[in-house]
Amino acid sequence: MAVDTVPTSAPAAAPDIIRRHTGGGPRRIAELAGLVITHGEGCDLVTDDGRRIIDFATAMGVAAIGHAHPVWTEAVAGQARRLAATVLHTPQQARYLEELARFTPAGLDRIALYSGGAEAVEVSIRLAQSYTGKRNILSFTTGFHGKTAGTRFLGGRFADERARLGIDYVHDVTYPLCTEHDAVDYNTCTDDGHQSLELLERKARETGDVAAVIVELLPGTAGNRPPQRGFPKALSEMCKRNGWLLIADESITGFGRLGHRFASDYFGISPDILVLGKAMGGAFPLTGVAAGGELWDNSLFAELSSTSSSYGANPLACAAGIAVLEIENAPGFLDNVRAVGERLGRGLTELAAASPYVRAPRGIGLMLGFDFVDPATGELADPQLRQTLFQRCLDAGILLVGDVSSVRLNPPLVLTPAEAGRAIDALGNALQP
Ligand SMILES: Cc1ncc(COP(=O)(O)O)c(C=O)c1O
Repeated sequence: MAVDTVPTSAPAAAPDIIRRHTGGGPRRIAELAGLVITHGEGCDLVTDDGRRIIDFATAMGVAAIGHAHPVWTEAVAGQARRLAATVLHTPQQARYLEELARFTPAGLDRIALYSGGAEAVEVSIRLAQSYTGKRNILSFTTGFHGKTAGTRFLGGRFADERARLGIDYVHDVTYPLCTEHDAVDYNTCTDDGHQSLELLERKARETGDVAAVIVELLPGTAGNRPPQRGFPKALSEMCKRNGWLLIADESITGFGRLGHRFASDYFGISPDILVLGKAMGGAFPLTGVAAGGELWDNSLFAELSSTSSSYGANPLACAAGIAVLEIENAPGFLDNVRAVGERLGRGLTELAAASPYVRAPRGIGLMLGFDFVDPATGELADPQLRQTLFQRCLDAGILLVGDVSSVRLNPPLVLTPAEAGRAIDALGNALQP
C-alpha cells in the first residue's frame, strides 16, 4: 500500500478523537493552534485544508532537517523494507557508531543509543554516579531534562514535587542568563556568571559527595535564553578543579542548532558526558549518551547488555541517524545555519524595535526567542493576549513555540535565506501594533 493511501480517520475529526482517547491532556500548543496537519514539505507544515505554515517549532527541534527530506525518507523507507529490529549486530549499527564517533567532540567516542531524551539523561546520571561512586547532582533552575522519575527533579520545573517526595540527590542553583544582549551582539557579552559559580561552590560544600553538574548550555524550554557568555567555560573549569563530571544535555543544542556541531564547541568546552537527541534521528526516535571509554569501562555499564534498551540501536534508527549525518556533513550545512541565523536574529531585533508586543529578542544560531508582552502593562502577556498573538502568527503563516510568553523559535536548520525573509515578514505582519 502506498504511503498516501494508508487509512486514517477523517482529518477534521482528529482533535475530538485525540481529546477523547489520549491519556492525560493533549498538548497545549496543539489545542491552542486548533489545526490538523496532514503532511510536511521541507520547512512547511500543510494543514488538512491545504494551508502552508512555516514550521518554527519543529516539534521542539526534532524536525531539524525539515519534513520529508529525500535523503532521510529514502534511508528510512529502504531500511524498513530490509530489517527494522534485531538483538544481533547489524552493519547499520556499526556504520552509524563509527560515523557518529567522528561527529561527536574528541574523546566522546563511545556512544550508547536510546529512543527517548529522558532515558538518555537517566543513563548519563547513572554513568556519572556509578563512575565517581558519589551521589549528588548539581543542576540549574532553568534546566529541563525530561519527565521520568530520575530526570524531572533536575532543574526547577518540578521543584514542588521534588520537595514533596523528598528527592535529595538533586540540588539546583540559578543559571546566569544573559539579559543585556540580543542575537546580534551576543558575541560582545563578557559576563561570566560569577554569582552562580559562587552559589555552585556553596551548594557543593553543603552537600558534599558531588558526582556531576548537568547543564543545558542554552536553556531551551526556559525560553531559548543564552547564558552569560563566559559562564560555560568558567563552569567547565570549576568542574575540573573540583573533580565533578560535567554533563552537557545537548538534546536541543546538538547537531548544528547553534551553527556548530554542538553548543560545547560553540562555547569552547569539553564536557565529560554529552546527552544527544531530537535532531539526531531527523524525527526518528533516536537519542544517545556519548562519553569516553574510561567512564563507560569503570561504571555499572561495563557489563554486557547494561546499556541495552528495546529500541536503542535498532537498524531503522541507525539508518535514520546515518541519513542525518550525511545531510549535516554536506558542505555548507553549518554555514547556512550561521548565515540564516544571523538574518533572523537581526530580524527579531528590528521586530522588537517596531512591535510593542515583542521584547528581549535573543538567541544563538537558529535557537532564538523573545518575550510576548502586554503594551498596556509592560508585563509579560497573560494567557489571553498570548493566545491572540500566537493565533495572529499562525494566521500570518508561521508556527512558533508561542503558547507561552517566553516564545521560542527553532526553525529547521535547512531554512533558506528566502524562507527566513518570509518568516520575518509574517512576524512583522502578525505583531504590528
Ligand atoms: C534539553 C532536554 N533534555 C531532555 C529532554 C527530554 O526528552 P524526551 O522528551 O525525549 O524525554 C528534553 C525534552 O524536551 C529537553 O529539552
